[in-house]
Amino acid sequence: MCGIVGYVGHKDAESVLTVGLQKLEYRGYDSAGIALLLPSGIIVRKKAGKIRELISSLEEDPLPKSTIGIAHTRWATHGGVCDVNAHPHVSQDGLFAVVHNGIIDNFSALKEVLEEEGYEFRSETDTEVISNLLERNYKLLGDLKGAVLKTVRELKGSFALAVLFREDDDLVIGVRKDSPLVVGLGEGENIIASDPVAILPHTKRVVYMEDEEVVFVRRNSVDFYDFEGNPIQKEVKILDYNEEDAEKGPYPHFMLKEIYEQPRVLAVNLDMYVRDNRPVLLKDLNLRRLLLNRSRVVIEAAGTSYHAGLVGKYLLETYAGVPVEVEYSSEFSHRRLVADSKTLVVAISQSGETADTIDGLRHAKKHGLDVLAIVNRPESTIARESDYVIYTNAGIEVGVASTKAYIAQVQVLTLLALELAHVKGLITDDELEYMISHMKSLPRIVEKVLSLDAHVEHIAGKIFRSTNAMFLGRGINYPTALEGALKLKEVSYMHAIGYAAGEMKHGPLALVDDNLPVIVVNPKSSVYELTVSSTHEVASRGGRVISVITEGDRRMAEISEYKIHIPDVPEIFTPIVSIVPLQLLAYYVAILRGVDPDKPRNLAKSVTVR
Ligand code: AGP
Repeated sequence: MCGIVGYVGHKDAESVLTVGLQKLEYRGYDSAGIALLLPSGIIVRKKAGKIRELISSLEEDPLPKSTIGIAHTRWATHGGVCDVNAHPHVSQDGLFAVVHNGIIDNFSALKEVLEEEGYEFRSETDTEVISNLLERNYKLLGDLKGAVLKTVRELKGSFALAVLFREDDDLVIGVRKDSPLVVGLGEGENIIASDPVAILPHTKRVVYMEDEEVVFVRRNSVDFYDFEGNPIQKEVKILDYNEEDAEKGPYPHFMLKEIYEQPRVLAVNLDMYVRDNRPVLLKDLNLRRLLLNRSRVVIEAAGTSYHAGLVGKYLLETYAGVPVEVEYSSEFSHRRLVADSKTLVVAISQSGETADTIDGLRHAKKHGLDVLAIVNRPESTIARESDYVIYTNAGIEVGVASTKAYIAQVQVLTLLALELAHVKGLITDDELEYMISHMKSLPRIVEKVLSLDAHVEHIAGKIFRSTNAMFLGRGINYPTALEGALKLKEVSYMHAIGYAAGEMKHGPLALVDDNLPVIVVNPKSSVYELTVSSTHEVASRGGRVISVITEGDRRMAEISEYKIHIPDVPEIFTPIVSIVPLQLLAYYVAILRGVDPDKPRNLAKSVTVR
């Protein structure tokens, strides 16, 4: 939920750190700060507000130059949004400066002990406890490494840290426990960050830290230890994407760029997972073993990934005959798990760092269950801790609202369900090849839907002043309605609910009046007729129907105020095609309401707190 960067090298640290923060801003943007180490000691500049507030302050009142520092962009957890609570936090006597991503669960108890020893606190944050604990332990032991190890063992909770030590101008200390931290290896310079996107401008050589590891980063050396102080050898990886992947390019916002990248994402996964018109995921015997002979699948995920899981349920049950439950990770991981060894848990996550979903994965592992992960970010915690991972290959997704990653998740689940059905003899060779041949046309079909951009923007202009909206879908497109509602609410702040169309008459119909936009997802499908009836229920009560329907559909068109026509595709692919106009609708409503869709208030891209 926060972004941290640390740098030691030969470049201007302020520039490296502020550019790094801008690349991490999607992780949180309540406040931002920087600490530099100078011969005179540690100096700090920190501001509430977005990173541009900090940069303006640095431009107006420059700091002295330095080649070593740390920086932070915050999503507030403990303590309000204000300058004093912004990171970095400096220890009482100025020995240490700390930036932190995560939550210290035992900070109150530690704070009490430190206050009894005479430490005074300036902020309400849990992080300030870490800087004072480091200082107290250093003064106690007189040894830096010992003080760091003692401190990290005393902390409970999740923490990725970057630390400056006043007495050493060639050292940035990094710590990782339950929050991501990556080390970039340069020439005469090294950098640590929450996400490789902040490292990419300097080097593609990285080391992904694991939990309970400490790293001492110097200009010409990087030394890793476990929390017991034992040296650790780490594998160097090479980042497989380029800087422009993490840039907006010609687009005004990452969200729009990533919506437009969806045809390419679909094509990449077809290239990765289809050979000779057949899915090849289950060619991997490890995955085949994991999936076959399962009595039940439990999908655990959060937010948009949870909606992809709901589509997965329809797909796996309808085609592969596997009973599937879909659980919010935050619920699943705290409930008694009634399961036997034939239950497979599937963790779906774009970031692979969502704390709730990590908890769900660990909950399953604790019960001895196998876990399959469907993840976008390579080397992420969920990817590393699962028994098998299928990557969604959507590339870097910066916009807080997940778009291309969602479509990639649904595409992978579709391929998995079809291939599993075929392996189980539930669909024939011809049926499989028919489906895959249609899937191959999806990149072109989604391109065609994107050409409706202006039309969707026009519709956004008709509803953006509304205070509420309702999304309806049925069957395999019930999750599409939920996802469309989440997109709209999270980027435009318009209250929106997604509902099963058949549920309207059981209560929500009372909400319908002539001010309520009701977006009905009803492409040609096995539940089309039923959803036409649901739409009549809405239209006859004055609801303003906006429908996502198949080209040529007149019956729905007659009862819709606005229509968005999508190409005719087999029902199984309608979740992929139908969500695109809803993503665009959310984007344009946000713009019309003056909201930055890339950085909606209160949210962050990767929810690494519980
Ligand atoms: C998606 O638009 C939201 N920003 C959010 O619900 C997200 O899907 C959720 O936090 C899960 O994230 P993950 O896929 O990285 O685990």
